[in-house]
Amino acid sequence: MSNKNHFETEAIRTQTETSQFSEHSVPLYLTSGFVFDDAEEMRASFAEEKQRDLYSRYSNPNVNEFVDKVCKMEGAESGFAFASGMAAVFSTFATLLNAGDHVLSCSSVFGATHGLFTKYLPKWNIECSYFNINEVETVESLIQPNTKFIYAETPTNPGVDVLDLELLSAICKKHNLLLVVDNCFATPYLQNPIKHGADLVIHSATKLMDGQGRVLGGVTVGKKELIREIYLFSRLTGPAMSAFNAWVLSKSLETLAVRVEKHCENALKIAEFLEKHSKVNWVKYPFLKSHPKYDISKKQMRLGGNIIAFEVKGGVEGGRNFFDNIKLCSLSANLGDTRTIVTHPASTTHAKVEADVKAAVGITDGMVRISVGLEHVDDIIKDLDQALNHAE
Ligand SMILES: Cc1ncc(COP(=O)(O)O)c(C=O)c1O
Repeated sequence: MSNKNHFETEAIRTQTETSQFSEHSVPLYLTSGFVFDDAEEMRASFAEEKQRDLYSRYSNPNVNEFVDKVCKMEGAESGFAFASGMAAVFSTFATLLNAGDHVLSCSSVFGATHGLFTKYLPKWNIECSYFNINEVETVESLIQPNTKFIYAETPTNPGVDVLDLELLSAICKKHNLLLVVDNCFATPYLQNPIKHGADLVIHSATKLMDGQGRVLGGVTVGKKELIREIYLFSRLTGPAMSAFNAWVLSKSLETLAVRVEKHCENALKIAEFLEKHSKVNWVKYPFLKSHPKYDISKKQMRLGGNIIAFEVKGGVEGGRNFFDNIKLCSLSANLGDTRTIVTHPASTTHAKVEADVKAAVGITDGMVRISVGLEHVDDIIKDLDQALNHAE
């Protein structure tokens, strides 16, 4: 038998050292700074000759616990936690990229990440180009001499497309590029990009990691030497996760496996229901046989996740009627909550994305994204069914 504990055990038993009070549940270390015994200890600590917490912009016991857990879950050497998923994305980019560099990204990325690529990185003379998620064979032809890394989201937000991580990693190795993966939709329970060759993995912890729609958070994990650079950038610029959010998120990770199992069980049943519904044009869910990348999803994911994309019949009007008749589910832009959430990407999260880009990544006027929650699946289906029956 292996000496290594299972995922669930590490999620529960990775804990900050017990204090003099012998508490069972880890306390909240709400402190901005830490004290030193004498001048020599302070000097040695700042010189990094001694490993310890100095100031909560750099590290904090609650944040360290959260990062250690995510590293164990992802099989990563090291990590750094951020105030939000976008702080993780931006700080990772800002650390890795220099003026004159180029990034090659999958065309379907989270709207705010797309905004960084198109609005802010060009300000620093950093260029980005997109490869079509359905034409991975074109990736090599888009690599330039100044390409620094390939950026991939899988499954993608909001299209729920799936990218072959092993294939991308082989291309990166051949061309000496880094592979950076946003693993937010899958969570470390369903997919571990590092095992498939990724160098860095980013999460918005706001989603299934919290799982209850309470706090924001982000984390980047991966190769030690890269995380060290990200840490040095972040310790200067201050995007760190708060101790409170880390405390909440570390507790949430204790139940990640059981929660995600149930989310996925509900989601598969709902995807199968939608696929048969007369008011639905198409459904995309990684573990449906009809998903174009079903085989790859099965190869690299434990289960299909909690996000489903589908198109309501009747275009904009059909979509509007569907949303106006939803009773139980929430109309919200978040995802990965206990509560089922229905979103209309075309008018919300992706409203600022250009029409041709939206079309290229399959965001149509009638497209709905569902983040399947933990309510009883029959009640979710009942709500979707009655709202769909009002659609046309
Ligand atoms: C795939 C993906 N990456 C990054 C983010 C950004 O995370 P946050 O909202 O925590 O900044 C999101 C948020 O929805 C997301 O879905």
